Amino acid sequence: MKKIAVLTSGGDAPGMNAALRAVVRAATYYGMEVYGVKRGFDGLIQGDIYKMKSYSVSNIISLGGTILKTARSVEFHSKEGRDKAFEHLRSRDIEGLVVIGGDGTMNACLRFSEAYSFPVVGIPGTINNDLYGTDFTIGFDTAVNTALDAIDKIRDTANSHDRIFFVEVMGRDAGYIAIQTGIGGGAELVMVPETETSIQDVISTLQAGWDRSKSASIVVTAEGNAEGSALDIAQKVKEHINNKDIKITTLGHIQRGGAPSAFDRILSSRLGLAAVEALRNGNHGKMVGIIKDEISYTDFKTAIETPKPLNEELVRLVEILNS
Ligand code: F6P
Repeated sequence: MKKIAVLTSGGDAPGMNAALRAVVRAATYYGMEVYGVKRGFDGLIQGDIYKMKSYSVSNIISLGGTILKTARSVEFHSKEGRDKAFEHLRSRDIEGLVVIGGDGTMNACLRFSEAYSFPVVGIPGTINNDLYGTDFTIGFDTAVNTALDAIDKIRDTANSHDRIFFVEVMGRDAGYIAIQTGIGGGAELVMVPETETSIQDVISTLQAGWDRSKSASIVVTAEGNAEGSALDIAQKVKEHINNKDIKITTLGHIQRGGAPSAFDRILSSRLGLAAVEALRNGNHGKMVGIIKDEISYTDFKTAIETPKPLNEELVRLVEILNS
């Protein structure tokens, strides 16, 4: 394989630049030409493609976001859009594609690689950590550290005022960010979509804390909770508790930005090299990942369709450490 392209797609994640750097440098090492595609699949449809050199990725390993920019492409859902994208690759004699993104992106990779028998390798880049076939996705560790930094600060003011804080973190339908942030931040309770936590459970947990003379409490809530947003949950709790000051913080997109952690830079670098080597070896139609510290390859269908359960040990840990 002599010519490959690379793009980032879906929500950005800290470490995408480090992965891009690794793809470009690894491909160059193997004597391949590399083309960067701007704005994800939208850019591929529009032919927004430029040649990258080793120096194109200088000094980006520490940058958050993605220098290629990203998009959640609607047009790529249509056959017409995908045909245009394929034509832009074909007309440039590009023989393989590396795509960095989350589960929606891996779904797009599956459709595209199957429809045109085109070699595609995916790199899991999403703060959600919700992709089967890898223990960690790029950006997750940084997002947890960002959320943790916020929780530490919230705890200072929560303690000073004897308040209850409901802190909402991202993760879409997955509770990975919430559980890790909750453990690291010593939250009194973590509410994740994977396990049911009723409003009565919340009240009982808070009450148990006050019985042990806790004056302030932090509840971390994942955005995909059945009970709704942090605001919804706080309002429901307020109906039962009127002698406490309750505050809400939604961390939002700060979790997506910032310099990638050391862990994410190294993970991204490893996965970038693995993706290029997979393309070279004809091991495509797959997402590269890391399982028990070894590089792994999971076909797109399995990566998308297999649920990735929360680590039960972590769920138990929160319960036990806060009892
Ligand atoms: O997929 C990453 C993520 O940050 C989710 O955690 C969140 O639900 C979503 O993206 C937000 O997407 P957007 O930036 O398009 O609002």
